[in-house]
Amino acid sequence: MREGGIPERLMSIIYEDDLSTVLHTEDDIARRVAELGKEISADYEGKSIVLVGVLNGAVVFLADLMRHITVPVAMDLVAISSYGSYSSTSGVVRIMKDLDESMESKHVLIVEDIVDTGLTLNYLVDYMRSRNPASVKVVAMLSKPSRHKVKVSVDYLGFTVPDEFVVGYGLDYAQRYRNLPCIAVLKPEIYAGPDTPPSL
Ligand code: IMP
Repeated sequence: MREGGIPERLMSIIYEDDLSTVLHTEDDIARRVAELGKEISADYEGKSIVLVGVLNGAVVFLADLMRHITVPVAMDLVAISSYGSYSSTSGVVRIMKDLDESMESKHVLIVEDIVDTGLTLNYLVDYMRSRNPASVKVVAMLSKPSRHKVKVSVDYLGFTVPDEFVVGYGLDYAQRYRNLPCIAVLKPEIYAGPDTPPSL
């Protein structure tokens, strides 16, 4: 495995054999997140933002990103559950945890971990728009363009990734690997089955 993969302290709980490739190391991610924070801060100069993080996957990204934003930020969190499976997402989405605050007249920036089919994000953008904000934009750490089923508008993007199941930096498979500091491809045999991964 390439350098920047599994750190020594996690070797006993995250096995190198589960992962095929490290796509982005901890250092790559830190650099990119800092760039995104700078870009967002410049675009929103003189304004304040509400960062709306999508639980659970976006928490690591959200926590890192907000420390690179130099305009005032508030934060709210939503949890979403989608029906269907990884390979046949239905696009039907249910809010499991709603916003705590009003979005009326606020500049909302949705913080998403990964855009796969884009269905969750499309739903969320519409949902936020229905709350009468001043604006709605999206920042996503990762996007898999070859899997998009709908046109998605991501205003700020960390990296594009290939059509493979990735874990780390907040992203899980069956609640594992979220604490991996890099972004890596999970070997298909780890989630083997006709219609997996089931965590989605
Ligand atoms: P979408 O509605 O198909 O775009 O699904 C987006 C959600 O699926 C993300 O917020 C993730 O929670 C999950 N997801 C999609 N692809 C992956 C992946 O490769 N690894 C981990 N989670 C994923």
